[in-house]
Amino acid sequence: MADSTPFLWNIWYYALPGHQLKPGKTIAKVLLNEPIVFGRTLAGQVFALRDICPHRAIPLSYGRFDGHEVECAYHGWRFSETGQCTQIPALTDDQHLNLDKFGVRAYPVQEVQGNIWIYMSSGAPSDTNITLQVPRVPGFEQETYRSVEGMNFPCFIDHAVVGLMDPAHVPFVHRSWWWRADDKLAEEVKTFDPSPYGFTMRKHQLERETLLYRLLGRKPAVEISFQLPGVRIEQVTSDRHTVCNLTTLTPLTETSTEVTTLFYTSLPWFKLLVPILSPLVQRFLDQDRQMVIKQQDGLKYNPSLMLIKDADTQARWYYQLKSEFARSVEQGRSFENPVREQVLRWRS
Ligand code: FES
Ligand SMILES: [Fe+2]
Repeated sequence: MADSTPFLWNIWYYALPGHQLKPGKTIAKVLLNEPIVFGRTLAGQVFALRDICPHRAIPLSYGRFDGHEVECAYHGWRFSETGQCTQIPALTDDQHLNLDKFGVRAYPVQEVQGNIWIYMSSGAPSDTNITLQVPRVPGFEQETYRSVEGMNFPCFIDHAVVGLMDPAHVPFVHRSWWWRADDKLAEEVKTFDPSPYGFTMRKHQLERETLLYRLLGRKPAVEISFQLPGVRIEQVTSDRHTVCNLTTLTPLTETSTEVTTLFYTSLPWFKLLVPILSPLVQRFLDQDRQMVIKQQDGLKYNPSLMLIKDADTQARWYYQLKSEFARSVEQGRSFENPVREQVLRWRS
């Protein structure tokens, strides 16, 4: 189902929670098969460089970072946060090289609501003309997340995304007393609207109340949006409070996808809930993870897969959104959302 270029380019990906990257420190990560070193200057500015020294390919993350510049471990070449080469120690005073030619690629990064996002472009950074916004959790513009959990799914991103938006697996995979105790399937009818780079399940009253939502207040209503490349925002509002869950999927390689789930909330005592919530969220994510692991046993025989109406319509939209996005980038035109307003019905 995936097209020939496995990943979407020219789009913002979730990179890491901001608190993990302390001032004066670096973190090395592979995203979309590209080695990247993230750093935070002593002034607090986040940057991302290709984690390969242009001289002889030692990852820059093996070197030193003084809080201003990265120094390669092998021959001490120094690079600024913009990737500019600032010093080649082996040069004598009369050897003048134009250091502009020895720079390393820098990736655009933004720190929003406590998270570091990276713009992954196929071309050189100079020709990136970024029109896209970093996805934002509505209602928490100046705030940061209150809890964060991460997990690696050993699969291609599409399988993780499809699993994330698949309503039909819930009663089979997530059967837990604290989430959904009854195993009776019920018919669901939900209206969906197109939204920027994705679609939104229209806000509706919650029928099944879960443990967390019962603590929120009366009349909880939920709205769930999905947008490319793999961002899901679930917003639950009651008569008193709001809880937002941001879940992001970022491909590390073709066979590994990082899932991060974060909570934003107006609940003042949410901190007290985190020690209870955190293992439950881990457990929930792991239930999905175990499925994609088992799915690999079948996928290695390269079978064709099916998408049925209406339970898999969201998955179908994901593939349509993805190919339209890739085409719009390739043709240098604006993206046209293929999703139309639609009512979907399924049993779950
Ligand atoms: S390999 Fe980095 S300075 Fe030589
Ligand atoms: Fe799931």
